[in-house]
This record gives sequence, structure tokens and C-alpha cells, in this order.
Amino acid sequence: MFRDSGLVKERTSSRNAWQQWTPTWMDVAVLQYQAPRLAAACLASVFQEPLQDALVLDVACGTGLVAKELQAKGFCRLHGLDGSQGMLEHACRKGIYQDLKRCLLGQEALPAPEGCYDAVLIVGALSEGQVPTSVVPELLRVTRPGGYLCLTTRSNTGNLEYKAQLQQVLNELEQRGLWRKVMDFAMPPWLSPKELWEL
Ligand SMILES: C[S@@+](CC[C@H](N)C(=O)[O-])C[C@H]1O[C@@H](n2cnc3c(N)ncnc32)[C@H](O)[C@@H]1O
Repeated sequence: MFRDSGLVKERTSSRNAWQQWTPTWMDVAVLQYQAPRLAAACLASVFQEPLQDALVLDVACGTGLVAKELQAKGFCRLHGLDGSQGMLEHACRKGIYQDLKRCLLGQEALPAPEGCYDAVLIVGALSEGQVPTSVVPELLRVTRPGGYLCLTTRSNTGNLEYKAQLQQVLNELEQRGLWRKVMDFAMPPWLSPKELWEL
């Protein structure tokens, strides 16, 4: 597990604004959004088995930035999920995922059997107004015993309450022996749209 000090998306007044949001390559390049690259590197560094054999689920996959980085590291069996049809269409155009499904996290169970993934990632989506912390046990459910779960969250002031709640959920699951922390680190901050606007 590791923490992300930033996401591309700013907190919005509407809980479901992300459903309409489809970023462009320019958005993320300008914002120096590094989470997908760092998440892929982190997962590749802890994996014992050959990366090409691992079945990986990219939860809240967005346009597929994480898959692109995973592929660059040698992962090639990739599934993706997102709540936004627009995002899934972007992701599909990348031609990297073997399976892409729509799933409203927090409202629906993950469309996957127990323990079927060697690794599950959720990058840039565990934060206020996006994916609720109640989804974490579901992420663990679909990860095989001995598999990896890689998640990011934000440390900006608007997300501190959410982050504390996430930490509590993770601690409880760890105390119950359902997972063990392998890695935890803070990333360099990236510029939020608001900060960029104020430059
Ligand atoms: C900031 S983007 C991150 C996308 C990708 N993981 C990345 O790092 O480039 C957040 C993604 O989470 C999705 N999302 C947010 N809340 C969601 C929810 N409750 N259910 C499903 N998808 C959600 C959005 O549609 C969006 O694609």
C-alpha cells in the first residue's frame, strides 16, 4: 500500500460530478500527475511471480493511465472497472485491457468472484466525493490470498477526514488478519487545478 499526496480531480460540490469528467492527456501532463507511474512501479517492485502471468484489476481505471504504466512494467493481463461510461470508452481505446466493466463503487459489488486477482489497484479514486472507504473490503475480497492491493489517497486538507476514515478501515482489516502492510509512502505533491489556476 502507498499513499498519494494528490489526485487529478479537485473536490467538487456534486458527489457524482466525476461521472461527467473525462480528462485529456494535457490535463494530467500539466498537473504532473505521477500516481499511475508510481503505483505501477510499486506493484512491480513487490511482485514475486513473473509479471506477465499476474491477473491485475485496475479499479476506477479512468482513461487507462495506470494500465499504460503497468504494461510498461511488464504486466499484460489487465482488467478495468469504472463508474463512468465516458472513462471506459477512453480506456478501451488504449487497447490494453482484456476486460472493462462499468461498476458504481459503493453501490454495487465488484463484478468478480472471490480471490480471482493477483493484484488490485485503485489509484486516484479513494477520496472525498469519489469512492467510499466501505469499498476496501470488496477490493480485498477479489484479491487472492497472498496477492497485492495497491491504493492511493490524498493528503490535502479537504480530504483529511476521508483519509483518517480510510486508515481506520485499513487498520481494522489488518487487525483481523485480512491483510498486511507491505509498503507505505508519500508522493511528491502535484498541482491541483485550483493551484494551477492561481499560479
Ligand atoms: C482521478 S480519476 C483516476 C483514474 C485512474 N485511476 C488514474 O489514476 O488515472 C478517478 C476515477 O474514479 C472514477 N470513480 C470515482 N468515483 C467512483 C465510484 N464511486 N464508482 C466508480 N468509479 C468512480 C471516476 O470515474 C474516474 O475515472
